Amino acid sequence: MTPKRYPTARLPNPMAADPIGIGLLGYGTVGSAVDRLLSARRDDVARVLGAPVEVRRALVRDLGRPRGDAIRDGLLTDDFAAIRDDASIAVVAEVMGGVEPTRGWMLELFAAGKSVVTANKQLLARHGAELFAAAEEHGVQLRFEASVCAAIPVVKVLRESMVASEVTAVLGIVNGTTNYMLSAMAAGADYAAVLAEAQRLGYAEADPTEDVTGADAAAKIAILASIAFHTRVTIADVPHEGIDRLDSLDVAFADDLGYSVKLIGQARRVEQGVVVGVAPTLVPRAHGLSAVNGSFNAVMLRGDAIREVTLVGPGAGGDETASAVIGDLMGVLGTSGTGFPRGDGLFRDLPLVAADDVVSALYLRLDVRDEPGVLARIASVLADERVSIDSVVQRAEGGRAQLVIVTHPASEGAARRAIATIAGLDICEGDPVVLRVLADG
Ligand SMILES: NC(=O)c1ccc[n+]([C@@H]2O[C@H](COP(=O)([O-])OP(=O)(O)OC[C@H]3O[C@@H](n4cnc5c(N)ncnc54)[C@H](OP(=O)(O)O)[C@@H]3O)[C@@H](O)[C@H]2O)c1
Repeated sequence: MTPKRYPTARLPNPMAADPIGIGLLGYGTVGSAVDRLLSARRDDVARVLGAPVEVRRALVRDLGRPRGDAIRDGLLTDDFAAIRDDASIAVVAEVMGGVEPTRGWMLELFAAGKSVVTANKQLLARHGAELFAAAEEHGVQLRFEASVCAAIPVVKVLRESMVASEVTAVLGIVNGTTNYMLSAMAAGADYAAVLAEAQRLGYAEADPTEDVTGADAAAKIAILASIAFHTRVTIADVPHEGIDRLDSLDVAFADDLGYSVKLIGQARRVEQGVVVGVAPTLVPRAHGLSAVNGSFNAVMLRGDAIREVTLVGPGAGGDETASAVIGDLMGVLGTSGTGFPRGDGLFRDLPLVAADDVVSALYLRLDVRDEPGVLARIASVLADERVSIDSVVQRAEGGRAQLVIVTHPASEGAARRAIATIAGLDICEGDPVVLRVLADG
């Protein structure tokens, strides 16, 4: 039988249409990759949009910096107004980073009628409310896929695909640098050596503070919590601990107990509101996030209709981030005028609940005297606060012992009160190490 053929629609040749102008704020790792990928995919992009796109101007700070000779004449400028006032530029990709002057320039672009797509988590996690209100007021779009987990399309999934699901939890590994470091520490490497290696490989910045203190993950969790729960969460609302005070000894103990240690960002919908936080956390080996190693990111979404969806992929990198920026540019150009997700969609005002009021299991490591009755004294303090013990491991050395206790889920406030009492007992030396343990489910 001859296969049936369907007539193909006769569309005008997209390559013959007038190109759509794009502006870039920034021509560094991400900005130059956006330009390169748009040129390499010029025909595909034109087929999708019905017209080719062209990067008209790109803003840099230093025009004198050597950048190779492949750059087109007239592309680079150090004058922001040249982009803001260019009527042939329809959409701008903000890939320069920083909070100021970026915030002010973005407001000027909205006022000039230009939509913006951004990769800037620190800006959005601080000034999202003002920026979305301004974009709405001027009838333009602000998209931000690249600001969280680069190539992983988690913003799109939360904003568009999950509109009909009541999302109850977002948890994930949202910082590739620290995940790379923790994976190496699990294999026996020491913190300082692995940080130096991460810098050599280009995963960690020259100043890695934002990564290792959890501030980078906190900005991403603020953005994800906001869109998952339709309520405003800023970086100032996200308590965060990083891996900078984590001891390799605890990574080894956790391994003995059947856990991996991961820097977990969490946002959970609880009865009273929303709980958010970032902390090094023990993850059971059977948990989906335990096997996410190296510089990869993963975000697990839970909800009533969706049950559980996990998105895994590279969370940084020039091309990976540029791919998300281009996806957003296509989204703006393909939907302008249609009312497709435009504002930030935050229509609730949920209270932020302190972590102390929620229930979680904890890992506790104590440096104690190696003598009879020590465990009984500690267990009794925990019992006074209604915290029960799940497992205990002890390693003795020269009259002292490292005592590791994993508790059953208990009120975190009560557990921390008990730990403060234990720290004051004459059998303990130094501060106890306390890490959260992720529930199996
Ligand atoms: N790189 C990644 O893997 C990645 C991943 C996710 C998100 N992001 C985000 O993407 C954004 C860009 O990152 P990047 O790695 O591409 O940074 P980058 O390589 O440092 O590039 C920044 C660019 O912006 C320009 N610029 C910075 N401040 C400026 C100012 N005040 N006026 C004019 N131009 C200015 C710089 O100009 P010069 O060239 O003259 O210095 C440079 O071209 C940041 O928000 C970052 O957080 C990056």
